[in-house]
Amino acid sequence: MRKISIIGSTGSIGRQALEVIEKLPDKFEIIALACGHNAELLKQQAEKFKPRYTVLGEEGLEKICSDKENDIILVACSGKIGLKPTLKAIRNGIDIALANKETLVMAGDLVMAEAKKYGVNIVPVDSEHCAIHQCIKDINQVDKLIITASGGPFLHKSTDEMKSATVEQTLAHPRWNMGKKITVDSATLMNKGLEVIEAHYLFGFDYDNIEVVVHPQSIIHSAVEYKDGSVIAQLGLPSMHIPIQYAITYPERFEGIKSKSFSFSDIARLDFEKPDFEKFPSVKLAYDMGKIGGSATVCMNAANEEAVMAFLAGEIKLCNIYEITKKMCDEHEPVKNPSLDEIFEIDKFVREKTKNLIQSHKFVI
Ligand SMILES: NC(=O)c1ccc[n+]([C@@H]2O[C@H](COP(=O)([O-])OP(=O)(O)OC[C@H]3O[C@@H](n4cnc5c(N)ncnc54)[C@H](OP(=O)(O)O)[C@@H]3O)[C@@H](O)[C@H]2O)c1
Repeated sequence: MRKISIIGSTGSIGRQALEVIEKLPDKFEIIALACGHNAELLKQQAEKFKPRYTVLGEEGLEKICSDKENDIILVACSGKIGLKPTLKAIRNGIDIALANKETLVMAGDLVMAEAKKYGVNIVPVDSEHCAIHQCIKDINQVDKLIITASGGPFLHKSTDEMKSATVEQTLAHPRWNMGKKITVDSATLMNKGLEVIEAHYLFGFDYDNIEVVVHPQSIIHSAVEYKDGSVIAQLGLPSMHIPIQYAITYPERFEGIKSKSFSFSDIARLDFEKPDFEKFPSVKLAYDMGKIGGSATVCMNAANEEAVMAFLAGEIKLCNIYEITKKMCDEHEPVKNPSLDEIFEIDKFVREKTKNLIQSHKFVI
């Protein structure tokens, strides 16, 4: 029996993780479930899954991550909240199933160094990174990581249509049913940019050796190219249950959530295209900030998150998210190797500055 806690159990990943656990009742014991605000759902989950305790809000997360009863913690909250508990759990020697990509975007160097120091496994939940994790046998023989992107709801829409997109149109993702923040990021392709940075830290590849390819069917979840030109890809139906189960049961595999067998003939075709960096400039911004490194990605992440929240609140247009994030990045003086305190200071400063900019409406072009 593996002892597990879930941070963000009421969210999209958290709920699906509980569905996985429900199918494998003799494999898991739940130590704790935690969420931000949804006390009613947390109560229902507690009645059904009987964790030893539940936590509502950020303060209690420290207790979970200090609880060495845990074999593994699934970090499935969204945004910057994931960073502190992840580091705490690592320092307590607890393995991590990591859905919260913002943790690595904000502090990838620090988090990966601590994981190495404490001998902790970080197994990715993001379907692309989970795919790469499965494709890599000997990392020294791999030349390139190939990250697939569905392209989101505006892949074949005009730039003008995208500019005037409503929140509802933006949240109508054609393949994945996810939380609101990541769904907006998927529409602007910032999510892919964040994933490139996440891959850089998880697998230690230079940005020039990480390629993004648009693949609308979301059947190939990502691939790696070996030195000899062989390409190994991981395929599967577009369901987050599979990577979640992989991450929390690694290195074992179980039937668990599998509902039907994969059939190439049912899929019929797989399409690929290059990402349009002019229509989706956020991907290029993420590459640029990733290459600068240090606090550049902290700034980008904070500005993007605040701008996404403002878009969801109806305060700005979809295209303003990039404009605001880019402006914040242009004005930021990157700090090399920032400490955790510096990361949180910069994060706070950029968020305030972004909110002020949004309130002043000076960004509209
Ligand atoms: N959804 C996907 O398919 C998917 C795929 C790949 C990666 N990811 C990544 O996984 C993460 C979660 O995404 P999601 O789509 O599951 O987000 P989501 O549906 O918005 O869920 C977020 C979860 O975090 C909880 N939370 C918020 N504030 C918290 C706090 N202070 N303390 C503890 N928990 C808190 C929320 O609780 P309340 O709702 O109760 O406030 C909720 O349970 C993101 O980083 C995302 O990029 C998601």
